[in-house]
Amino acid sequence: MILVTGGAGFIGSNFIMNWLGLGKCPIVNLDKLTYAGNLNNLSSLANDSRYTFVYGDIGDRNLVRELLYKYQPFAVINFAAETHVDRSIYCPENFIQTNILSSFNLIDECLSYWKQLTPPQKESFRFVDISTDEVYGSLTSNDPPSKESAQFTPNSPYAASKASFDHLVRAYHQTFALPVLTTHCSNNFGPFQFPEKLIPLVIVNALQGKPLPIYGDGMQIRDWIYVNDHCEAINSVIEKGTPGSSYNIGHETKKTNLDIVKAICKLLDELRPDSPYAPHEKLIEFIADRPGHDRRYALDAEKIKKELGWQPKETFDNGLRKTVTWYLDNQAWMNNILCGDYHAWIATHYNGAPGK
Ligand code: NAD
Ligand code: DAU
Repeated sequence: MILVTGGAGFIGSNFIMNWLGLGKCPIVNLDKLTYAGNLNNLSSLANDSRYTFVYGDIGDRNLVRELLYKYQPFAVINFAAETHVDRSIYCPENFIQTNILSSFNLIDECLSYWKQLTPPQKESFRFVDISTDEVYGSLTSNDPPSKESAQFTPNSPYAASKASFDHLVRAYHQTFALPVLTTHCSNNFGPFQFPEKLIPLVIVNALQGKPLPIYGDGMQIRDWIYVNDHCEAINSVIEKGTPGSSYNIGHETKKTNLDIVKAICKLLDELRPDSPYAPHEKLIEFIADRPGHDRRYALDAEKIKKELGWQPKETFDNGLRKTVTWYLDNQAWMNNILCGDYHAWIATHYNGAPGK
């Protein structure tokens, strides 16, 4: 058994489906179902006895303790977080609460649980901290890609909150010998991503003929990775990673935001030739830049490739085609989010009763 937190979000839900699809052990998913958590992401597992959903907060120590003792997981993989950089600029408090304080409660309960395990169980236990490349801060065009040894220079409240927890995770290994692993991944894209993030936002807006907002000059560079490649990298970290280590996960795609938006527009022109909004590029609108906007991220992912034998499988172009096609084929999923139906459903079914 493994305990996944934040598994109703974008990467967590892809991770759960990938893990169970590979025939690995059962999963308990603890999720608070914030605006970003969506149980529809996991509807394909409705009748799968290997999957258990628990509604609740990683900061709820009693609930976390109960789950650890009840399910005896050999690994805890923490995806639960506030994740949108723009929201962290306008409301940092939620990020401090979830990404630092509640995450502290989670790891501290894991430590207490781990301490009473038998020596072989202690040896095989893993706490996996799913972090981000944003902790390394912005690179200039001449800087080499960031290695795991790079100094943390986070620039947004989101990145600072993630870096803060990464330090705590490292300290729990150094001080208490808790077998922890930290991953730093670049920008993910793929099915089930909430439409506040660049790629799904552009697809959704373009389909409705709305402006495609590009912050600043659109020449910021990100290293995009298809979500399933990230999930498989996490699998190899759980199974083969060295406790106390961190691993960069990236694809070295080097795309500007403008490149990305134009590529989506081209795909939509091809896949929706009758759209009244084609050519979709004419919807592009340059708007005010994000405050403190990082210019460039790039990761050196040699360590995970050499030590753990992981390699990304998806090309950027093919991954983007699959993603755009998925959104076109799953407009009901999108409409549920846009009209707020799934929030109404959560209110009816869970009625503020965590742990049920
Ligand atoms: P997401 O915003 O789509 O989902 C986050 C999930 O966490 C939601 O299901 C939400 O309900 C849940 N959650 C939030 N607070 C919680 C709490 N207190 N208790 C329990 N559940 C809670 O996020 P994502 O994009 O899937 O990211 C998952 C993880 O991966 C995050 O830690 C993020 O920092 C990291 N990451 C994301 C990316 C990316 O490109 N999306 C890249 C690198 C790392
Ligand atoms: O790098 C990993 C990070 O990637 C994760 O840790 C974060 O959780 C995830 O949200 C993502 O952060 P970004 O800020 O890079 O993602 P976002 O999709 O918000 O923005 C991608 C780029 O596109 C960024 O340079 C800002 C720009 N952008 C974004 C939006 C939403 C726009 O130009 N216009 C937009 O409307």
